[in-house]
Amino acid sequence: MATTRKLPVLALLAILPIVFPQGAEGVNVLEVAKDNGASMFASMAGQCPWLANLLENSKEPNGFTVFAFNDKAYSESPPAFRKLIANTQTLQWALEYHVALGPTKSQDIKDNLLVTSLYPSPTSGASLPLQFIRTNIYHVYENDAIHRQVVTASGAQIVAADKIASNGIVHIIDKVMFPLPTGADVVEFIRDDGRFSTLYGFLEKANLTQALMTDPSRPLTVFAPNNQAFTNIPKPIMDKLMTNATYLQDVLEYHVAMGAYYAAGLYDNQTLMSLYRKPLLVQRGVGGIYVQDAKVLQADNTVSNGVVHEISAVMIPYK
Ligand SMILES: *[C@@H]1O[C@H](CO)[C@@H](O)[C@H](O)[C@H]1NC(C)=O
Ligand SMILES: *[C@@H]1O[C@H](CO)[C@@H](O)[C@H](O)[C@H]1NC(C)=O
Ligand SMILES: *[C@@H]1O[C@H](CO)[C@@H](O)[C@H](O)[C@H]1NC(C)=O
Repeated sequence: MATTRKLPVLALLAILPIVFPQGAEGVNVLEVAKDNGASMFASMAGQCPWLANLLENSKEPNGFTVFAFNDKAYSESPPAFRKLIANTQTLQWALEYHVALGPTKSQDIKDNLLVTSLYPSPTSGASLPLQFIRTNIYHVYENDAIHRQVVTASGAQIVAADKIASNGIVHIIDKVMFPLPTGADVVEFIRDDGRFSTLYGFLEKANLTQALMTDPSRPLTVFAPNNQAFTNIPKPIMDKLMTNATYLQDVLEYHVAMGAYYAAGLYDNQTLMSLYRKPLLVQRGVGGIYVQDAKVLQADNTVSNGVVHEISAVMIPYK
């Protein structure tokens, strides 16, 4: 019988750390998120029955990767995000998008890796295909010589990586991953968003829509002038856009850069090559982010083949 072969207490103590390697058996991903400055994320996820049950009760080691926004990110989140999470169903959508099945450790993250999120879950009531989290690795220069690596998940910088829980991995991010993608590509996004109806009309007129429907592995960044930007164009330039197809195409191609450049990857004096093959100058300072003379008004719309930023002005490639 086992009781006749009792282990001495000291031997048992020596074994314990091996049996419970974390010294914290059952610390799940939400508890780890909470312990690492993402307490709002953890408490909101705890309010979503399906998600909470999964993240709190699943025991599978490496079961999940959670991109948990920290409390500062929550406090800085935009009004549209606050509105989304005020409803329990859409709260779950927002949080599901921050979770993926299986382990994606920092060593697995590559530029333009697409990680399948849990959004939309079978219980969420959203009729979409599963949405991707795009990871990026940027080299952001602070001046000519010094640069730092910035790793992002759908544009949110990972500020603390690889926090191990009993049932997964937690990365802490400094921004909420918002707006939620819908599966639209850059063209569909521009078509479906009322801010960009003039731009969409011109893209169609220039026969550029097909060229912008690239594969998700060949992402694009579109600096999308809003409707107001087009109404601000001087009449002679507007006339040329309307009448000269080459001119229109050149101008539109100047608004598209090759690669997925979320705001976190944009730095002062950076140049991005446009589809028009002329560089775009990025300027970044206390006043925000500018591309040429256009201000980035609303950044980081994740689309299936890249990212769309709303800008304030139409950029003309020749002076
Ligand atoms: C960007 O370029 C301007 C003009 O050359 C310069 O004054 C500024 O210091 C540069 N910014 C950085 C971060 O190097
Ligand atoms: C429109 O662009 C596509 C490629 O993006 C091309 O195949 C097609 O021939 C173009 N149509 C016209 C009318 O130029
Ligand atoms: C149309 O625009 C192109 C590009 O700016 C220019 O080279 C060409 O001369 C223009 N054509 C006319 C008829 O103005």
